[in-house]
Amino acid sequence: MDTKRQALLLLLVLTIFPFTIKASSSGGIAIYWGQNLGDGTLTSTCDTGNYEIVLLAFLNVFGGGRVPSWNFAGHCGDWSPCTKLEPEIKHCQQKGVKVLLSLGGAIGSYSLSSPEDAKNVADYLNAKFLSGQSGPLGSVTLDGIDFDIEGGTNLYWDDLARELDNLRQQNSYFYLSAAPQCPRPDHYLDKAIKTGLFDYVLVQFYNNPSCQYNQANGDATDLLKSWNDWTSSVLPNNTVFMGLPASPDAAGNGYIPPNDLISKVLPIIKQTSNYGGVMLWDRFHDVGNDYSNQIKKYVKRPVLRFVTKVSEAIVGSISASLNSMFPN
Ligand SMILES: *[C@@H]1O[C@H](CO)[C@@H](O)[C@H](O)[C@H]1NC(C)=O
Repeated sequence: MDTKRQALLLLLVLTIFPFTIKASSSGGIAIYWGQNLGDGTLTSTCDTGNYEIVLLAFLNVFGGGRVPSWNFAGHCGDWSPCTKLEPEIKHCQQKGVKVLLSLGGAIGSYSLSSPEDAKNVADYLNAKFLSGQSGPLGSVTLDGIDFDIEGGTNLYWDDLARELDNLRQQNSYFYLSAAPQCPRPDHYLDKAIKTGLFDYVLVQFYNNPSCQYNQANGDATDLLKSWNDWTSSVLPNNTVFMGLPASPDAAGNGYIPPNDLISKVLPIIKQTSNYGGVMLWDRFHDVGNDYSNQIKKYVKRPVLRFVTKVSEAIVGSISASLNSMFPN
């Protein structure tokens, strides 16, 4: 091989390298915070070091001309601004934890009435939560917006995703996540998910017996089949998290004991290329059941071996180029 070709090859490897790393996400835990005082503070949540993503739950009144409102249970007093979270959000971000605002939830009053309404809501979210200007949570620049749409109508959520995507392309990038129920297609979020704009798809494998773990007999067949359907139906750059209850009473059903998750489920789902990790509902139940502490090290994917291989390839190609440039 001549020097020019060697140099070209080297350039190619160096160009591909960062993308390869980005594509092979290492696996982390996403957790919902904000629906129970037993969550503990946001600071203490992030200080566990257990979580990659914290989802603030919920902004549960918005759209259709409604005055937006949020519910963080007892954390701030009901229905009141929560600027005391500003330093805690910044603390989490300094520790490398991504903090997203979750829209929706099971209880609230929200819907979008038109594409223009979706644009207005996107602009509101951008101004109040994503741009560092003052808003209900203080002057914060959150890392993104989560769609946990479980009520209202199924209209215009795709428009909201596109409007938010326009804003992140124009300004600085933030993440979009969606938390559909496991039966496909999801009634509320299917159209939005099909835009391909969600960095994270946090599928709720609970309260949905047809596609979740069978607690009664320990059978993971339905769960794993649904996992395969989800991960193959979204785009390769949409990472999927397995959403689970953090304790037996965190949801009506769908709980997987840690040892079963570790032995029967994680080894299989970690092989999926767009595996993102595990999402837990919620911090309060995780505190009580010590779930994330038990599963944490098994959620991660061993990227090291992979990185080593790529590094070896790069070193090999550099030395080959040098050899051909300076033959001895
Ligand atoms: C995923 O890739 C497609 C192009 O194939 C792009 O349009 C979309 O914005 C990407 N999504 C994310 C979340 O980066």
